[in-house]
Amino acid sequence: MKIGFFDSGIGGMTVLNQALRLLPNEDYIYYADTLHVPYGEKPKEVVKEHILKASDFIAKQDVKALVIACNTATSIAVKDLRQKYDFPIIGIEPAVKPAVQISEGKLKKVLVLATRLTLAEEKFHTLVKNVDKHDIVDYLPMPGLVEFAENFEFREEIVIPYLRQQLSQFDLTQYGTIVLGCTHFSYFRESLSKQFSEDVDIIDGSIGTVKNLKRILESSNKLNEGSGNISIFDSGYKVLDQDSLSNYIKLLEVLGNVHTNYHIN
Ligand code: SIN
Repeated sequence: MKIGFFDSGIGGMTVLNQALRLLPNEDYIYYADTLHVPYGEKPKEVVKEHILKASDFIAKQDVKALVIACNTATSIAVKDLRQKYDFPIIGIEPAVKPAVQISEGKLKKVLVLATRLTLAEEKFHTLVKNVDKHDIVDYLPMPGLVEFAENFEFREEIVIPYLRQQLSQFDLTQYGTIVLGCTHFSYFRESLSKQFSEDVDIIDGSIGTVKNLKRILESSNKLNEGSGNISIFDSGYKVLDQDSLSNYIKLLEVLGNVHTNYHIN
C-alpha cells in the first residue's frame, strides 16, 4: 500500500522531500489540488469542500496513511478527515512550540508566517495561547509566496523585494525564530534568511510531521513495503504532461534532493 500526500499545490512537496529521506522504501501518491490553489485566500467552507473531494479521490488509491502536507488544510479539516477514514491522517501545524522555546533562550521574539486562513483559525490561536506565556509571538500572512511557488518563481530578484515590503512593518532585529507555517514557504528559506541576522532560526513542521508518520507506521507494522515510486495527481492539469512531471522532479532538486532517480508517473 502507498502513503498519500495532499496539498493545495506544490507546497507539500517540501514535506514529501523529507519523507523520501526518512522513508525511502515507501511508495507515494502526491495529490496537488492546483485547480483550487490558493486555499489560504478562500472562504473556509469552500476550501473544506475541495479538501474532502480530494481526499475521497486519494482514499480510493489504496493508501495506508494520508499526510495533509498543507497547514491550511490541516487547520480546517483534519478533524473531519480523521472521523471519515479508518487509515491514519497525519497533519502539519506551525512549529510554534519549539520556536517559543528557542526564542525564549535568546530573549527574542517569534514571527509566524502562514496563510490568512491558517492564522485566522481557532486552532492556531489555541496553539499560541498554550505556549506563548510571555507574549512573544507575532504573525503575518504571506500570500505572495504561495503564488510565487505555484508559478515556479524562485528568483531572488523577484522574491526579495516582496519579502522586504511585507516585513517592513516589523523591527526584524527583535526576532530569534521564524516559523514557516505554510509548506509553500520552505522554498524561500534562503531568501528569507537573508532578511534576518545570521543567528535567526527558521523552522517548519515538516520533519516533525514525517517523524510522526514513521512512528505511526512503525507502531502498526506497516513500514517499508515499496520501492520509492511517486505517483502524482494534479487536479489543475487533469492528465500530467511530460513538462509538468519534470517540473515536480525539479522541485525536489530545488529542495536539495540529490536522488533524481525517483520513478515519477
Ligand atoms: C495555499 O494554498 O494558500 C497554501 C496552503 C498552505 O500550505 O497552508
